[in-house]
Amino acid sequence: MKMIACYNNKGGVGKSTIVLNVAHSLAKQGKRVLVMDCDGQQNAARFLCDTLPDADHGLERLLLASPTFTPTAIQMKSRYDMIDVIAATPAINDAAAKYSAQSERLRKEQLESLREWEKPWVAVDYDFCLLDMPPALNCITEALLSVTDGVIVPIELGSFAIQGVTRVTEALNRCGANLLGCIVSKFDRKNSADVELLKQFRAQIGNKLFDTVIPQSKIIKNSISYRMTADEYMGWLEPAKAFDNLTSELISETEGL
Ligand SMILES: Nc1ncnc2c1ncn2[C@@H]1O[C@H](COP(=O)(O)OP(=O)(O)OP(=O)(O)O)[C@@H](O)[C@H]1O
Ligand SMILES: [Mg+2]
Repeated sequence: MKMIACYNNKGGVGKSTIVLNVAHSLAKQGKRVLVMDCDGQQNAARFLCDTLPDADHGLERLLLASPTFTPTAIQMKSRYDMIDVIAATPAINDAAAKYSAQSERLRKEQLESLREWEKPWVAVDYDFCLLDMPPALNCITEALLSVTDGVIVPIELGSFAIQGVTRVTEALNRCGANLLGCIVSKFDRKNSADVELLKQFRAQIGNKLFDTVIPQSKIIKNSISYRMTADEYMGWLEPAKAFDNLTSELISETEGL
């Protein structure tokens, strides 16, 4: 199971949109996917599931309870055959102090339990676990990032984007997480400033930038409003295809992990 987080501490850059569309694209290719919605806003879970977990079945319990409480106990089915979900509840927003007050040994066991599916006695073997991260940086986000195999960082181009990446990569280094690459999101190709910034960005961090660019698109925005992936909404158009391209890159980037 490849555990990949989609993270940027900046809000609204397209993290959840990318997770949902990549999960769907992976599922289309026959991959089994677990989406871990680590954000108390529960956007990804709301999209994927008809019901949300109650307080006893939130992801945060894995980080606060004894490790005998395993992820399989809180796993939910989604509207898609190949995608299952684990979701945080809003209680995760207030869990950081409690989490860090626990012993180091307990925290380690709890984090190990997040990879429970790799154990031979667990029935479902996921190909990918995608973590939709909250726009925050605290001890819980760092802990979650530290158990992943890689992190993709969506970037919305703008004057602060490049400085923002430095902040994110520092955070990833601090928790020992592996930056797979940044992905330019909400790219407006008709805006010359965006085009110029993309060029600068490629020159600066080209080897850590996915070739795929996710366009700023009404199709993407509207599909989410209609509770569809871009592929389900208008899969034959470029914006939807961008997620398939990103997924192919992600599969090849993670092959050796
Ligand atoms: N490529 C895109 N083109 C147009 N709109 C987009 C695109 N990607 C995301 N959006 C819209 O932008 C808004 C924010 O997207 P999203 O929720 O995916 O961001 P996020 O980074 O997960 O936000 P948060 O930090 O609050 O969790 C949503 O309304 C979404 O529909
Ligand atoms: Mg989100």
